[in-house]
Amino acid sequence: MGLVYGRSFLRYNIVKQENLLLAEKNEMRRDELRKLNIGEVTVADDPAVFNADVVILAVKPQDFSELAPKLKGKFRPQAVIVSIMAGIQIAQLEEALGTTAIVRAMPNLGVEVGMGMTGFSAHLSVSLNQVRRVEHLLSTTGRTVFFEDESLLNGVTALSGSGPAYFFYIVRAMVDAGKAMGLSEVEAVTLVKQTMLGSFHLINNAGKPYEELISSVASKGGTTEAALSIFEKRGLHEALIEGILRAEERAEELSH
Ligand SMILES: NC(=O)c1ccc[n+]([C@@H]2O[C@H](COP(=O)([O-])OP(=O)(O)OC[C@H]3O[C@@H](n4cnc5c(N)ncnc54)[C@H](OP(=O)(O)O)[C@@H]3O)[C@@H](O)[C@H]2O)c1
Repeated sequence: MGLVYGRSFLRYNIVKQENLLLAEKNEMRRDELRKLNIGEVTVADDPAVFNADVVILAVKPQDFSELAPKLKGKFRPQAVIVSIMAGIQIAQLEEALGTTAIVRAMPNLGVEVGMGMTGFSAHLSVSLNQVRRVEHLLSTTGRTVFFEDESLLNGVTALSGSGPAYFFYIVRAMVDAGKAMGLSEVEAVTLVKQTMLGSFHLINNAGKPYEELISSVASKGGTTEAALSIFEKRGLHEALIEGILRAEERAEELSH
């Protein structure tokens, strides 16, 4: 994820290559990063890191406790620290890093293709200008939404953070149905992917309620209605909602 951000900043010329520092603890990985030739490669406690204007923390949450003491109290007062670590709250970051200039962001996998969805929140002491600056950086990976209330990031985690997996799950079921009807894997995948893409653009452009969009495909007594009536009977709509709410609850549990 850290690399995705570095690449995205360069792609949009927001950061110059000579101003991009990639900090990595593993020596072999550092060598690999050097070969990419996209920025200076170093370790997290290099004094150059403490000179940065913006620092993105993209280690796994379980690695943060080992990293934090190396960083605590060393950043410049005007530096903004952006954490993308799932489940670590702003107050915990403040305590561990000894600074209040903290933004907490929750991206999703779409950032890898520049179509991510990131929800983010900031410590009250972060100025509007700093929030705008971070938003500008995060937007190189897709869309962003700012939440004043940090607790809503649990919902962001459950909806857009985990969302790609829900989508893949539904796509997989549709492809499996295609194969059960005698289509080859390639044929089924082609049909489903293009259908998903077209449907996304229909939602985006139609400006109609979802119910109306559904009934524009499902005519009375037809094939779509036959499928939807099984989904309803099996409680698919409720199961999806229940699952997503459970994900939110789990995000809340994991953040303590
Ligand atoms: N992937 C997603 O869709 C997604 C979505 C939302 C949030 N996130 C968050 O993004 C973060 C990164 O996820 P990821 O999938 O990119 O994880 P990852 O592939 O494990 O990347 C983390 C990197 O940090 C390095 N690292 C660990 N400790 C370090 C230290 N002390 N100094 C410098 N580098 C260190 C790791 O090196 P080693 O491999 O050598 O340990 C690894 O290269 C996680 O906190 C996750 O919660 C991810």
